[in-house]
Amino acid sequence: MKRVLLTGIDGFIGHHVAEGILKNTDWKLVGMSKIDSASTLHRLTDIELWSREFAGRVDFIYHDLRAPINPYIANRIGPVTGILHLAASTHVDRSIECPMEFVQDNVVGTCNLLDYARTLDGLQFVNYFSTDEVFGPAAPGVAYKEWDRYMSSNPYAATKAGGEELAYSYYNTYGLPVFITHTMNVFGERQHPEKFFPKTINAALHGSKLFIHSDSSRTKAGSRFYVHARNVAAALLFLVDQFDKGKTIIGDKFNIVGEQEVDNLTLALAIAKVVGKPLKYDLVDFHSSRPGHDLRYALDGAKLKAMGFEYPKTFEQSLTKTVEWYLQHQDWLLADFSQSQFVNEAKAFAGKRK
Ligand SMILES: NC(=O)c1ccc[n+]([C@@H]2O[C@H](COP(=O)([O-])OP(=O)(O)OC[C@H]3O[C@@H](n4cnc5c(N)ncnc54)[C@H](O)[C@@H]3O)[C@@H](O)[C@H]2O)c1
Repeated sequence: MKRVLLTGIDGFIGHHVAEGILKNTDWKLVGMSKIDSASTLHRLTDIELWSREFAGRVDFIYHDLRAPINPYIANRIGPVTGILHLAASTHVDRSIECPMEFVQDNVVGTCNLLDYARTLDGLQFVNYFSTDEVFGPAAPGVAYKEWDRYMSSNPYAATKAGGEELAYSYYNTYGLPVFITHTMNVFGERQHPEKFFPKTINAALHGSKLFIHSDSSRTKAGSRFYVHARNVAAALLFLVDQFDKGKTIIGDKFNIVGEQEVDNLTLALAIAKVVGKPLKYDLVDFHSSRPGHDLRYALDGAKLKAMGFEYPKTFEQSLTKTVEWYLQHQDWLLADFSQSQFVNEAKAFAGKRK
């Protein structure tokens, strides 16, 4: 049976990956997080069936990867057969304000994790969970493939590319069983309220104005491929399953893209339609005044598709389900993730597990 270390388990994507693993496999999990201003353990404890079925399969380690994983922490983690490395600082604006914090979390933190991974016996895989942003903006009609060149537009993207390169170098230099995924824009339940989905639902619900990033003519909204976090979890599980079936995934890279490209105005109007209220909005040329933000990202998802992966739910199904969930859980639209609260939660949770 697998026992997998999932870093960033209480982050937005991390907790969906944890849920996907707990629902669809018999794996045990060791979750690690430093619990920062974007995360909360309530994401885990809110998961359906948490207390009855899941909690006993998850251990939690409170650790900041800026520091090496010392023998005490390694001992608390215990034996591990796989690693999914999702922990990172993720807020692009904050990376523009304080790049060094992102170097610490995303580059130094990854290096500390990889050095720890090198000490493990019987390790089957290490996933470095990267982003479309490492490739930079995509011109209309362009979709980057897995091994295309990087061109980071902001410090967040550059530090994710740095971590990715380190991960690949550990595969090459030390034979660490690394595979890399690039994922496009993720949405889903319990996302940080500053993100586009919850922000749009809030605007529609309360009649406030939504500012949508557009080109300099303020007529064309930016676009992305959006993928639900549950579908991301399914893609990761699919890749590990391929590995278990003897297919080569180690030393390779895979794009997790989402089924269709959608521009942010169309998306906002579709969200408001499910909310059932009109949306007030303005198109704003954010990109000329705030360098570091890209109007269009696009990755090519053909490789994963050719391997036989299909998204369990369509984009429209996921959109409707997510908006309806938010309408029934409006506390997640207002969440104030305050640091002191996280630290107390972490201590209480870690205490319970040992
Ligand atoms: N959100 C997206 O659309 C998207 C798209 C592609 C890739 N990604 C990548 O997915 C991963 C998760 O993103 P998210 O949106 O869930 O982010 P998030 O901010 O919600 O979660 C990040 C997690 O990492 C943890 N973390 C940060 N620094 C740490 C450190 N030094 N030590 C230990 N834990 C630390 C946080 O506590 C949190 O649990 C990141 O690696 C991000 O780069 C995100």
